[in-house]
Amino acid sequence: MAERIGVGIIGCGGIAGTHIEALAGLAGECRVVAVADPLEEAARRRAGESGALTWYTDYHDLLADRRIAVVTIATPHYLHAPIAVAAARAGKHIYVEKPMATTVGEAQEMLAAAQQAGVRMTVSSELANPIYRFVRERVLPEIGRVRSSYLLDFYFRDSAYYRSGPWRGKWATEGGGVFVNQAIYTWHPYTWLLGGIDVAYGYWANLLHPEIEVEDIGYGLVRFRDGSHGKVFSTTCYRPPAGIRLLEIAGERGTIFSATPWLRTLDFRLVDTKRDAALHRDVQAVHQTLTGSPYTPWAENDQAARIRAQLADFLGAVREDREPEVSAASGGEPIKILDGFHWHGWRHAERFREWLIAGDDLASIPRAGAEPTVEEAVAAGRTGGRGLAELLAIVRSPSPQLAAPFLTSP
Ligand SMILES: NC(=O)c1ccc[n+]([C@@H]2O[C@H](COP(=O)([O-])OP(=O)(O)OC[C@H]3O[C@@H](n4cnc5c(N)ncnc54)[C@H](O)[C@@H]3O)[C@@H](O)[C@H]2O)c1
Repeated sequence: MAERIGVGIIGCGGIAGTHIEALAGLAGECRVVAVADPLEEAARRRAGESGALTWYTDYHDLLADRRIAVVTIATPHYLHAPIAVAAARAGKHIYVEKPMATTVGEAQEMLAAAQQAGVRMTVSSELANPIYRFVRERVLPEIGRVRSSYLLDFYFRDSAYYRSGPWRGKWATEGGGVFVNQAIYTWHPYTWLLGGIDVAYGYWANLLHPEIEVEDIGYGLVRFRDGSHGKVFSTTCYRPPAGIRLLEIAGERGTIFSATPWLRTLDFRLVDTKRDAALHRDVQAVHQTLTGSPYTPWAENDQAARIRAQLADFLGAVREDREPEVSAASGGEPIKILDGFHWHGWRHAERFREWLIAGDDLASIPRAGAEPTVEEAVAAGRTGGRGLAELLAIVRSPSPQLAAPFLTSP
């Protein structure tokens, strides 16, 4: 039997627990050799849970550990790039948590460092869900030229979430808000399906999280390299309205769509009903070939299963010296949306926020402080009012233009 691959885990907070669970499911392939976290208590605890032989409070010591071939990076966002670059220079293969980085420049440096060092790198992603591959290889060619697409992301994050880590909610350490932390989950498969990004610009504001610096709502336009365009909307201020499509890719001969958060299930309708029926039957057959089991939509937020599937492929890529299924370069594409929206939107944040508040049903909500909070809004059963309805209409419109009514209204 081949020797097990030595793994080191850098960052021993919440998601590291899932890395440990996932790696435990791959115990025949690998073993956790060491963990690192500046918080000694966290490092000791995760070492105990993973059976690691060693724990470090400085990740440089873990990178110098010759028993380790692969590292997983599970730290606050601003550390992904410097740790990945250092890991590549130390000759380690890298599984980095999402988001790959907080700027395009950082992502480029990571890609260059991995290439120069000849190490493999992947970015933790929803793409481990096999339905994406089926849709890209089999369904997208059937729908013909893509006319337009949209992607809606509704999350809910309260102030307790932002208090759960000192790095959250700050430009310097989280690198943004809903875009960089939550929307990235779907931006990655969205950009993977539709190809690389040429242009991205958008608008954002902090509407209902006065305790943080970063955006909690925003939208924008993305143009893909094939010339098609899409619009995206993301927020941590509302729960998703029932019964809407969260993704739609409209082509000349059919449509791909999803009504589930994180796009766990993708479905499609082809104009040619015979092809449609045949392709729906093929989902089962192809899935069976790819995974050895019949197609069933991925379970609600089964983080460990997703991370285990991706880590299994990544360990295989390291062993076989091949590209992982989720290339690191693909993880850099959504960072282009992030940069584009952040750079373009900052000048307009105040006007966008004023427009959102004016069109919202927030006015009638009792509030304790000067600014409304997301908890108060939810407790009062707020719907988002005319403002949200108008935004959703803008984003779902197939027009290649991005309306910004707050820039023109008096
Ligand atoms: N893929 C997913 O489903 C998923 C889910 C949650 C979080 N994440 C991502 O995982 C990352 C971590 O998130 P979290 O929720 O675990 O955060 P967390 O705050 O719970 O944990 C972060 C840990 O990193 C440690 N850390 C800080 N500086 C460090 C350093 N220099 N070296 C080593 N460790 C250091 C902190 O002490 C902390 O223990 C983020 O990028 C987040 O976006 C991914």
